[in-house]
Amino acid sequence: MPTMQDLLKTLYTMAMLVEARDAYTGGHLWRVSRYAHGLAAALGLPQAEVERIALGGFLHDLGKIGVPDAVLNKPDRLSDEEYAVIKTHPQVGADLLSGHPLAELVLDAVLKHHETPDGRGYPQQLAGKAIPLAARIVGIADAFDAMTSTRPYRQGMPVEKALAILRDNLGGQFDAELGQRFIQLAEAGGFDQVLGHSEPGMPMQRCAGCGPIIALEAGARDGDEIFCPACATGYRVAREGRRFSLKPSGRSDAVRARQPRANQALIEALLAEAATLQTRKRPGLVELLFG
Ligand SMILES: [Fe+2]
Repeated sequence: MPTMQDLLKTLYTMAMLVEARDAYTGGHLWRVSRYAHGLAAALGLPQAEVERIALGGFLHDLGKIGVPDAVLNKPDRLSDEEYAVIKTHPQVGADLLSGHPLAELVLDAVLKHHETPDGRGYPQQLAGKAIPLAARIVGIADAFDAMTSTRPYRQGMPVEKALAILRDNLGGQFDAELGQRFIQLAEAGGFDQVLGHSEPGMPMQRCAGCGPIIALEAGARDGDEIFCPACATGYRVAREGRRFSLKPSGRSDAVRARQPRANQALIEALLAEAATLQTRKRPGLVELLFG
């Protein structure tokens, strides 16, 4: 009989498949999950609810697995038709999850993270508090990470500018109280270990040509060779204890650069953190489902 841990692991693994499709956004899911966790915790929600919302942050873009690469990775403006395709991803994610035993934990975030308080979001044009709390939180976390992350084709915004945009859109695109709280947290340095990182203690590494877009795994060893996912330039990992840097290896490998990897160590770390909390919230869930 699968344990809660086993079931959670399948959810994390599904989420990682989406990230494997799009190497340019290395660490996005982890950061969104951590921002959502930080905001939910600051609201004083019960720990189990905090962890549930963080899990929703990790799963929120699951439906992007159904969006073609040509649309997902297109650097220029999307056509109306392409935008319509993008807008299917919340419902696609919800549909893909619908048979999963733990779907109910994350469906609100997956289906509704692009709803906006002004009712101009998608897919259901929900407004205000009709949007579940988890979805309002993940919506803020997602937008903040999208603004502050560097992509091969554009530089990430300075934090101050991203926070100013959040502030300008309180009550419109973003929940006013939650957005205000998020800004306070960010300004107080509450996200300094998340911003510009791809997992705990791991700052994004810089490609000389593309900027800080290389997500290096905590398990990387001294001398490992890695390749920029965008331009395929090779680098040697120089590791001293928990400090990492990259030195050009003088090689380039477009095949290895685009080879996706699931970060199993990160999944294990996330599980270790979530396990007790999730089961404490619904102690009988697994028994209920499989008993
Ligand atoms: Fe999304």
